[in-house]
Formats: sequence, structure tokens, C-alpha cells
Amino acid sequence: MSEKKIEIRRNISGEEKDNAQELFDLFKNSPIPNEEIQLNLGLYISRQSLSRIIFMHDLYKRIINTTGVVMEFGCRWGQNLALFQAFRGMYEPYNYNRKIIGFDSFEGFQSLHEKDGNAKILYEGAYTVTNNYVDHLEKVLSNHETESPISHIKKCEVIKGDATETLEKYLEEHPETIIAFAYFDFDIYAPTKRCLELIKNHVTKGTVLGFDELNWPYYPGETLALKEVLGLDTYKLQRSPLCPTPSFLVIE
Ligand SMILES: C[S@@+](CC[C@H](N)C(=O)[O-])C[C@H]1O[C@@H](n2cnc3c(N)ncnc32)[C@H](O)[C@@H]1O
Repeated sequence: MSEKKIEIRRNISGEEKDNAQELFDLFKNSPIPNEEIQLNLGLYISRQSLSRIIFMHDLYKRIINTTGVVMEFGCRWGQNLALFQAFRGMYEPYNYNRKIIGFDSFEGFQSLHEKDGNAKILYEGAYTVTNNYVDHLEKVLSNHETESPISHIKKCEVIKGDATETLEKYLEEHPETIIAFAYFDFDIYAPTKRCLELIKNHVTKGTVLGFDELNWPYYPGETLALKEVLGLDTYKLQRSPLCPTPSFLVIE
């Protein structure tokens, strides 16, 4: 099978790239023994990656007293899903009603629209993952699930496919769904717009909607989708001092 091209857009300078490479090499060749390396991941994490984790934590904390599931639209390698599992385990270990659901085609961008603009990274297949990655992700998430209370109830699901179809099907099969927190990270217009339309009747006061790329010139589609479905002046768009691009709103 031919190797897939796996490319993402990173907003970093040459010097930052060199530093990141050096840190990665130090991690890869770490003298820390295997049984201790996971206990020391903070040694090798960058400030930017740590900021994102804390940002996700801050969003999760906002929903602890609200009812509903957590959805991520565009979960890719699935780090956020694992973080949400960890936050659930920390703050509400007995809330087996807080399902976490990740949607992704695992094939990168599929349906580019003229409203997505023409950044270099906007091509079909960008942000794809390695072959059969979803199998690996499911094993990782299931391992975390085993570590959490009430582990016999499956509380995390990964749904592979075009989310404009899989989300519609999921909501038809689960009409009781209330969404406490949805994180949008498709980066592009068409699936963001369709999924926003689909979840509209499943949110309540207090629902948190997070967006990875609002007001971001390389991916105008996400902002246009929000503008067309909810309007830009309907909710207060908030951000965290931790990260420059993500933002969120709370339905009031
Ligand atoms: C920027 S990546 C997500 C990154 C991830 N949230 C993270 O924090 O690392 C965008 C993802 O959206 C997915 N995607 C784009 N359009 C999609 C669609 N119509 N249905 C499902 N997934 C889609 C891509 O496969 C890709 O994994």
C-alpha cells in the first residue's frame, strides 16, 4: 500500500520548527525508562500543546452542571476525546450519561467549497490519518474507559464517515440526544454548516459550542458557516487568553 501524504498547516517560524524538532528528538531518544516515560510527558510537551489541553479543560468545566453529551466534529487523532474522557473521570466519574462522541471521516478534507478560500493546505485529503488509524484510536479510548468507574457501560464512541451523513443518522437513532458541549474542528464550510444545522434542535441553555478556527483567514469557511446558521451577533463569542485561534459561545 502506498504511503499517504499526511500534511497539516502549522503557524510556526523556522526557528520554532527547529526547536520543536529538537524536543521531539529528545523525546524519541529519551533516557527515561519505558515504565516511567508516560509519567513524565509534561517534560516534553510544548507550551502551545499544554495551552490547548488547558483550554479544553476550561471548556469542559463549563458543562459539569449541565445535561448532555459531548461531541467533537473533526476528531482526527482523537486527543480531545481522550482528554474529555479524563475530565469526565476527574469531575463526574459516575456520570455514565455523559457520552463522548467523535465524528471524522479519517480521510481529511473531502468536500471543499468555494467559501473555504484557497489556502495551500486546502486540498482534498489534507489532514488525513494513517491507514486503519480508527482501530488504534478505539483501542486507546477503550483502554481509558477501562480505567474509569462504571467501565462496563460504553461511554465513548467514534463514528467514521462523512459527518453530514453520520450525524444525521446518529440523531435519528438517538432522538433523545441533548448536546452539552460540541467542539467544531472540521476547519471547512460545508460540514460545519450542515452539522450546526443538525444540532440546532439538540442544544439547551448552557450548551457550549467551541470553534477551532473562527476569524481565521486561512479557513474562512468555519466563520461563514456559523454566520449563516446562528448569526455572528446572536451569542457572545468568547476566547481564552491561552490560545489565539479557538473560541466558544454559550447558548443563553
Ligand atoms: C483539523 S482536523 C481535526 C483536528 C483535531 N480536532 C485535533 O484537535 O487534533 C480536521 C478533521 O476534520 C475531518 N473532516 C473534514 N470534513 C469532514 C466531514 N465532512 N466528515 C467527517 N470528518 C471531516 C478531517 O478528516 C480531519 O480529521
